[in-house]
Amino acid sequence: MSAPILDRWLAAVMATPGLTALREPEAARRVLLDDALLGVDIVGREHGPIADVGSGGGAPGIPLAASLPERTVTLLEAERRKCEFLERWTDELPNLRVVWGRAEEQPLETYGVAVAKALAEPPVAAEWCLPLVGEGGLVVLWVGESVEPDRVARVAERIGGALVEAPEGLLAIRKIAHTPAGFPRRTGVAKKRPLA
Ligand SMILES: C[S@@+](CC[C@H](N)C(=O)[O-])C[C@H]1O[C@@H](n2cnc3c(N)ncnc32)[C@H](O)[C@@H]1O
Repeated sequence: MSAPILDRWLAAVMATPGLTALREPEAARRVLLDDALLGVDIVGREHGPIADVGSGGGAPGIPLAASLPERTVTLLEAERRKCEFLERWTDELPNLRVVWGRAEEQPLETYGVAVAKALAEPPVAAEWCLPLVGEGGLVVLWVGESVEPDRVARVAERIGGALVEAPEGLLAIRKIAHTPAGFPRRTGVAKKRPLA
């Protein structure tokens, strides 16, 4: 019998050049898998399709897709080569989709939840993710210890979001109003001139 899918996925991430700098299997399991699973409850309580923005090798999207099989999970990734790796898991996880593209260039207000881990600095990740979710939806950012809730809260206020309670290591932003005109800003602008 083959190993469970998440074990095989983790081994494949480690064996594929360019997907993770982690070399120790235990560290990789903690960072890529256990950390991703911290989001299952908060994401699972929400409704609608889920986007993992800047999915890289598939964290947290692949563990979320395996844990929430009734929810569609789209892995959005800017690098074509990484998308080819992500596509390998769609046969076994029928709720998984892969989109090659940048967050700033996607259709607006399409998802119920957008998640991101190590996508960019949290204020930038918030600016990229909030336009992707519909009103009432949720953005969940994996921020670990480098949490900057005040800056993220200021960004959220500018673009229709409000910080809400989340488990330790995560920041959650509720989308309380439509994305204002002028957002998302052109590719590259959020990083060059962060809103906060
Ligand atoms: C540091 S990796 C993190 C990957 C994964 N989330 C993880 O935690 O292991 C950041 C990923 O985001 C992608 N990325 C960066 N900017 C992006 C954007 N604007 N839209 C979509 N993907 C982006 C990069 O190509 C890269 O694969």
